[in-house]
Amino acid sequence: MAPHNLTTPVRPWAPVLDDPERLRQGDPLGMVGILSSLPEQLEEGLRRAREVVARLPRPERVTVVGMGGSAIVGDLAAALADRYGGPEVRVRRTPDGPRDLGRRDLLVAVSYSGDTWETLRAYQQGLRTPAGALTVGSGGQLRAVSDAKGVPHAGVPEGLPPRAALGYLLAPLLALLARDVPPLAEALPGALEGLARARQGWAPVVPTAENLAKGLAIRLRDRTPIVYAPLPLVGVARRWQTQLNENAKVLAWHGGLPEGAHNEVVGWLEDPRAEGFAALLLEAPGEGVWNAFLPGFRELLAERLDVVAVRPRATAFLPALLELVLLGDLTSAYLALLRGVDPWPVTAIGRLKAKLADRGLGGTPGRGSAEGEI
Ligand code: PA5
Repeated sequence: MAPHNLTTPVRPWAPVLDDPERLRQGDPLGMVGILSSLPEQLEEGLRRAREVVARLPRPERVTVVGMGGSAIVGDLAAALADRYGGPEVRVRRTPDGPRDLGRRDLLVAVSYSGDTWETLRAYQQGLRTPAGALTVGSGGQLRAVSDAKGVPHAGVPEGLPPRAALGYLLAPLLALLARDVPPLAEALPGALEGLARARQGWAPVVPTAENLAKGLAIRLRDRTPIVYAPLPLVGVARRWQTQLNENAKVLAWHGGLPEGAHNEVVGWLEDPRAEGFAALLLEAPGEGVWNAFLPGFRELLAERLDVVAVRPRATAFLPALLELVLLGDLTSAYLALLRGVDPWPVTAIGRLKAKLADRGLGGTPGRGSAEGEI
């Protein structure tokens, strides 16, 4: 499969993405730079998290509760634990807390703001089980409840949008997994170096003709993206979707393979509305079984859709996962700039949280999340 198959002419749009002044003006709070700091966030976050994580017993299973840009770290951790032989990691995006936890379970509540109603409620319910617990966030109610109950809390720096703090939010779970899973610990330093190298090719100063992230943004400019990935990387596909939603402010969806090849493919081939979509196919690293069905799926979809295959340069799982995450993040930010929208604010989410607050579920002005009745 030809990777990075960019056939759309880039020239008409390149001036927007290749003009440093326009990039600065379109991104006044510097989202591109913050997203690009993923390697440094991970490094600093791992340093900060080690002490907290050292106090936790080795869990047999990890249940992450969270929403949106915080919950995604659970998906990424689940993929890594599965691949490198760690405990089962599952993610719950619901105000209903897990009730099936025992002493060998670890409950991890992740909320950047620390004030998200669903997360707080699920966390409080989970605390009623005999499981151990860890919380991750920048403060708020989550920190307050954890301190009051003596639950270890891994703090992350304040003042960022949750989705731009991915490295800090992921680091505590990564530190926990790496502590108990030597192959993951061994892969980490090289993965961070590889990520920093990969980032150079997608920097704002690299012209569109040579910059995959800018090229992908241009390819998606007039299409609704659907991001597919083989099951081990479906969390990465979800991250692409949510970053496209929140940074670029576009409709986008994601799907997992091979399941999508057993149902969604029918809609893509037979629904006339498929025309306006672009399918991004994220490939797993290496030539393993997970990529085996991709050529056939791509050929079918290409009958109706614009299809782009994205193959990570890294051949090992952890570096490939991180590389694809950062590529998706930057693609979404460049798409925002192309569309003339500021990648930073997510007004609709704030409005939704305000509606929750109006219904008695509280909220912390400025932190953008709900607390209230938990
Ligand atoms: O990206 C976002 O801003 C949202 O998806 C939030 O992460 C989500 O609303 C949950 O908020 P928090 O991460 O503060 O718990």
